[in-house]
Order: sequence, then C-alpha cells, then structure tokens
Amino acid sequence: MEQTKPAYVYLVRCAGGQLYAGWTTDPQARLYAHKTGRGAKYTRAQHAESLAYLEQCPGRSAAMRREAALKALTKAQKEALCAQWAEASRPRLSLASRADAAEILELYNWYVLNHTATFQITPSTLPQYEQWVEDTLARAPLILARDKAGRLLGYACAHRWHEREAFDWDVESTVYCAPFARGLGVGDTLYAALLELLKAQGYWNVYALIADPNPASERLHEKFGFVCEGRTPRTGYKFGRWLGLSTWHLALRKGTGAPEPVRLQLPAEEVIAVLDKCSL
Ligand SMILES: CC(C)(COP(=O)(O)OP(=O)(O)OC[C@H]1O[C@@H](n2cnc3c(N)ncnc32)[C@H](O)[C@@H]1OP(=O)(O)O)[C@@H](O)C(=O)NCCC(=O)NCCS
Repeated sequence: MEQTKPAYVYLVRCAGGQLYAGWTTDPQARLYAHKTGRGAKYTRAQHAESLAYLEQCPGRSAAMRREAALKALTKAQKEALCAQWAEASRPRLSLASRADAAEILELYNWYVLNHTATFQITPSTLPQYEQWVEDTLARAPLILARDKAGRLLGYACAHRWHEREAFDWDVESTVYCAPFARGLGVGDTLYAALLELLKAQGYWNVYALIADPNPASERLHEKFGFVCEGRTPRTGYKFGRWLGLSTWHLALRKGTGAPEPVRLQLPAEEVIAVLDKCSL
C-alpha cells in the first residue's frame, strides 16, 4: 500500500548556492522543515532557502533510488536539472472557463476527501462545478495556474462575503494548490494576481476563513497583509473531530468615503495584463 503513495525527490538550494538532495512524501512540510533548521544537519548549517527541483516518484523505494542518483550528479548536472525544472514548473496564469470545471473539481475534491482546509465533506459533482465556475466569474476572476505542460497547479477566486446589498464591496477569497504543487510558491503567484484584480474591480474588503490548523495558509495571508480578526475554536466537525476557524481581513482601500460601484467585469486586456505580469 505504502509503495503506491506518491513520494518525491527534491533539491533544496542553500544560502551559498549549494544544492541538497532528499526525498519526502510531503514536499511542503519538508521544505518548511529545511528552511527552519529542522530538516537535516547540512541544510541547518548551510541555511536552506528555497526549493530548486522536485520530481514525483511512484513510491518510497523509487524515491530513495532516485535520491541516490541525484546525490551522485555533478554540481553542473544538478544546476541543469534545476534550470529545466524552474522553467517547466513556473506557474502560468489564465482566467478559467466552464471547460476547466472538471480539472478544478478534481483538485478541490481531493481536499474535500482528504483535508480540513475545506469544511465540505461530500464531493461536488461536475454539473454543480460547471455552474459554480459561471457564478464565480460573474463577480470576480477565477484564476488558474498551470505549468508548462498544462497541468493544473492551483486556482484562486473570490465570492460574495454576504448576500445583503450593503456587502456589495466585500468578497471572500479562496486559494487551492494541487497537492503535488504545495510549497512551490504557486499560492503566492495566484494571490498576487487575484488581489490586484479585486482592487481594480473596486472591492474594498477581502475576507478569508482559515480552518485550524493551516499554518501555510495563515502565513500566506499574513504576507499579503491580511490580519486575523478572530478565531472560533470549535465550529466545524470533520474526520471525527471538532475544528476551529479564523477570520482574516484585508482592506484593499482606506477611508470612509462613499464607494464607487464595483466593476463586475474588467476589460479582458486589463485582466490579461495582470495575469501575464504575475506569471513572470
Ligand atoms: C495554503 C496554500 C494555498 C499556500 O500556497 P503555497 O504556494 O503552497 O505556499 P507555501 O508552501 O509557499 O507556503 C506559504 C508560506 O507558508 C510557510 N509555511 C509552509 N508550511 C508551513 C508550516 N508548516 N508552518 C508555518 N509556515 C509554513 C512557507 O514557508 C511560506 O512562507 P514564506 O514564503 O515566508 O517562506 C497551499 O498550501 C494549499 O493549497 N493548501 C491547501 C489548501 C488550502 O489550505 N487553501 C487555503 C484555504 S484558506
């Protein structure tokens, strides 16, 4: 059973440019451990800074064999691999359409079934998601990140915060990376584009609901200026346990003046310019 779970080999770049090779079943957690000095003696001493290469293997044994092969490469060979990977895995942003619903659904349903990031317990269906894509696009961008080969790395979007009209200037944001694409900075790229577009539309407030525990999401929101405005310690029940939820807020505009109406649809060229800039 263990052998069929994906495992990964990776190279981590250290402060002096050195590359450290390892394997893991959870690249995001492993990278964070290296960056915080709890990964390996070498990366603690040399200060691990970023992920430089990631490759999925069919299982643990394959990953261990591949790790040994990576360790045997020369520095120049490792650098060539990293350069190739950086170009291939760089997120390319685009606006979603109804035709992308199946891929988005597959990504999201993985979290429904395996993770507490969402409080949804029963997977959504394709017709529901096709409608969801259209409803989402009616008010705000639904942004996809794909790699060079076109694989979906993640998506970000925003929905009404509350139904009443006085909330017209407020949205709730969402970001999901594919399980294999967590820890690669895809969340950053998606959020930078989403928040810029929401601001251009004329929204004033962005809220995010973060279930406990989700340190990567909390850190991502902090980096973009969100502030935690409160935490309910026991509000959702999933996988046989109670979960807490925190509310995070980002003010896109300051002041108390009367707001202009939100531009529900931005001109296509304005959207493309932001997506292209953030894809670099
Ligand atoms: C949350 C999510 C969008 C973040 O995107 P990402 O591209 O994977 O982000 P990263 O792994 O680069 O992590 C973001 C930050 O959290 C930090 N981080 C990662 N794991 C961490 C941990 N266990 N503890 C503390 N910080 C952590 C990273 O170091 C990074 O901060 P830095 O840039 O200052 O180094 C992504 O992990 C994801 O899709 N998670 C599952 C779905 C989800 O939780 N969505 C959000 C719902 S509110």
